[in-house]
Amino acid sequence: MNLSVPRRATAVAGLALAGLLAGVAPAATAQPQAAPAAAAAAPDIPLANVKQHLTDLQSIANANGGNRAHGRTGYKASVDFVKAKLDAAGFTTAVQQFTYNGTTGYNLIADWPGGDPNQVLMAGAHLDSVSSGAGINDNGSGSAAVLETALAVSRAGLQPAKHLRFGWWGAEELGLVGSKYYVGQLPSTERAKFSGYLNFDMIGSPNPGYFVYDDDPTIEQTFKSYFAGIGVPTEIETEGDGRSDHASFKNVGIPVGGLFTGASRVKTSAQVQKWGGTATAFDRCYHSSCDTTANINDTALDRNSDAVAHAIWSLSAGTTTPPGKVFENTADVAIPDNGAAVTSTVDVTGVTGNAPATLKVGVDIVHTWRGDVVVDLVAPDGSVYNLKPFSSSDSADNVQTTYTVNASSEVANGAWKLRAQDKAAQDTGYINSFKLTF
Ligand code: TRP
Ligand code: ZN
Ligand code: CA
Repeated sequence: MNLSVPRRATAVAGLALAGLLAGVAPAATAQPQAAPAAAAAAPDIPLANVKQHLTDLQSIANANGGNRAHGRTGYKASVDFVKAKLDAAGFTTAVQQFTYNGTTGYNLIADWPGGDPNQVLMAGAHLDSVSSGAGINDNGSGSAAVLETALAVSRAGLQPAKHLRFGWWGAEELGLVGSKYYVGQLPSTERAKFSGYLNFDMIGSPNPGYFVYDDDPTIEQTFKSYFAGIGVPTEIETEGDGRSDHASFKNVGIPVGGLFTGASRVKTSAQVQKWGGTATAFDRCYHSSCDTTANINDTALDRNSDAVAHAIWSLSAGTTTPPGKVFENTADVAIPDNGAAVTSTVDVTGVTGNAPATLKVGVDIVHTWRGDVVVDLVAPDGSVYNLKPFSSSDSADNVQTTYTVNASSEVANGAWKLRAQDKAAQDTGYINSFKLTF
């Protein structure tokens, strides 16, 4: 039975080319391949998370003399708060310093790694308040919605075609100072890379309207179609065009857009008909000490936060690689030489429905002549998917690869087996690990 020494010599000498051609690629039934990108809709932004950010900004104001204004300790504390969340979520952050009125101001810039560096989509909000209050609607609301959208990008593992950047501006209340500084220090070659800037300043007004900036038509339409989809009528923003940070970008030719729920202007009776509320100021606490967490309309904040995410997802043409559930057995299983088949089992639980058409089968078999080994995936119902055939000529070591199997006719949950059988004498090995990614 043991003819192994001559066989090895013959195989190496005579079948080396055949081995290269036939033995290297896995079986045709299961080609290793990259995961295809899947288009994805924007997630629902959890209102509770956005509101928690507002509660935290309120606490920062309370602990710092009641405001988060330029040059006051509450402003820098706000920057540190937002930055810590972004750093923990995998953003590349930078704090940009500028000087205004003899005082240091700060912009916070956060880049999401990846995407086309020549197509930058940016969303921003001013993070400063006026000195008379905590600035929770103006502009904790925009700051919190942009922050939570950035965190949602991280949670989704978004891989957008465009490069995503987020910004929190200082000293907006003193004349768009921070955003002007940011744009001013960008070389014109960098400005040219912006495909758009989205601005969110006051998006939770207590007596809200739903206003969309009428600047770049694509951005405007993206917001309008979001609101149309949830059955909420919008109007064009007219309460002071250029009164927020988008003007800094627009002035250098960058396409801009944004959302707004109204400031000190009074809601008309026609607008009350349309949106509900009362024929009073959209925000009676605008630039006042009563702009606290009590000065927020939750429905407006919720809808606008979801609109931010919708715009980021659709305008960056994002795709996601879903996290994928992984099941693995790392126990070693010896494969007897020229002997019976052995198996390594993983018990799959908690996966709804069938297995995917792109089930990833991670195989790690250590072996001194892998051609000896036939490798199969066995579904819970006993269906067999051949991953690798026998090959007398494939003299390479080990089977360490990920196969993609169309397992869409199999129920996902149950005991899946990796089956290995050594069909020729002398060289031996073992299953090192077996991993399934759903
Ligand atoms: N932060 C802005 C300001 O104090 C609020 C504002 C007023 C606004 N009118 C606007 C924001 C129009 C966007 C669009 O001026
Ligand atoms: Zn303001
Ligand atoms: Ca063998």
